[in-house]
Amino acid sequence: MGKAEKGARFGRDIGIDLGTASSLVYVKGRGVILQEPSVVAVDKQSGKVLTVGAEAQRLLSQTPGDLVAVRPLRTGVISDYAMTERILREILRKTSGSRVFKPRLVICVPTNITEVEERALIDAGLQAGARRVYLLEEPLAAALGAGIDISKAEGNMVIDIGAGSTEIAVLSLSSIVESLSLNVAGDQFDEAIVKYLRRKYNILIGERIAEEIKRSIGCVLPRLLELSTEVKGRSLSTGLPETITISSTELVQALLPVTGQILESIQTILERTPPELVADISNNGILLTGGGSLLWGLDQLISRQIGIKTRLLDDPITAVALGTGKTLEHLSTLQEGPRRASSPIGMKQ
Ligand SMILES: Nc1ncnc2c1ncn2[C@@H]1O[C@H](COP(=O)(O)OP(=O)(O)OP(=O)(O)O)[C@@H](O)[C@H]1O
Ligand SMILES: [Mg+2]
Repeated sequence: MGKAEKGARFGRDIGIDLGTASSLVYVKGRGVILQEPSVVAVDKQSGKVLTVGAEAQRLLSQTPGDLVAVRPLRTGVISDYAMTERILREILRKTSGSRVFKPRLVICVPTNITEVEERALIDAGLQAGARRVYLLEEPLAAALGAGIDISKAEGNMVIDIGAGSTEIAVLSLSSIVESLSLNVAGDQFDEAIVKYLRRKYNILIGERIAEEIKRSIGCVLPRLLELSTEVKGRSLSTGLPETITISSTELVQALLPVTGQILESIQTILERTPPELVADISNNGILLTGGGSLLWGLDQLISRQIGIKTRLLDDPITAVALGTGKTLEHLSTLQEGPRRASSPIGMKQ
């Protein structure tokens, strides 16, 4: 039997970065082949699930009135298992190729996931059609995806700033020595922009516009060349549309409180970390992953405030999914059997 046939026979193994904003899927032998918004479109009247992923997002933008958007992974933690299962089912349908032979799944989870949530996520994966489900902590996946040899007796720090949560972790010997999961990330940067405009200009904008502003002129350090953009919102005093101009310097102001929370948490983790590992982290630098880390100046600000250099990947959004891909190679060497707390590569099953 050829390699490809064998893959089809058993169902290809799949690694999933189940994110608040988007989910990325790595298929063994093929790489990251799918990136879809983690959203489900539900009919308001009947409560029926209409579509999932990119199609759901398209439908929601076309007919917003009749539909509700469900984002089951709102704050980095799974808040709606039935909907999470729908997302997983859709991912399997699109990627596994075979309905008869079930794939094995590696799903990334935040470090603060509870045992009950773990159990429910494993069940959701099995219900969705997996043969077996393994859980992998996100920071381990991120480090693996960035090509760090996590098995060494050496400290590494990974900060994954996503949409719903920031995971800060210190790794050594393939496990997590210290970690903190903060419900502050890209979404909170967007909210901070909404709040700033309401307070300073008395206008209301939606979160989607706030995200556009963040991506285009947002920054957490002053830019050498100040940028500005026009923003259309609704005046809170007249209720009518109003246009104002906002500058990148104002955005530093707006985003500072959120940045402060992330910096404080990094400090907390470093204080809890044994000094010899802190020394390693100082040498190796801090790895930044997740889309939130693309905010202009954030890598520099962290390295200035914390006093350790940072390393931002060229493509920080796919690092976690790439990491799950690397663990797929080891799945067959993992012992089958009851769920274990941790394996040599930090997996749970
Ligand atoms: N160029 C950019 N500048 C600033 N922020 C960005 C940029 N590109 C993406 N983002 C932000 O990154 C976030 C999405 O990142 P990512 O895809 O890593 O999140 P996620 O994995 O879905 O979420 P989580 O890990 O919290 O569950 C969004 O908040 C988005 O606005
Ligand atoms: Mg993520």
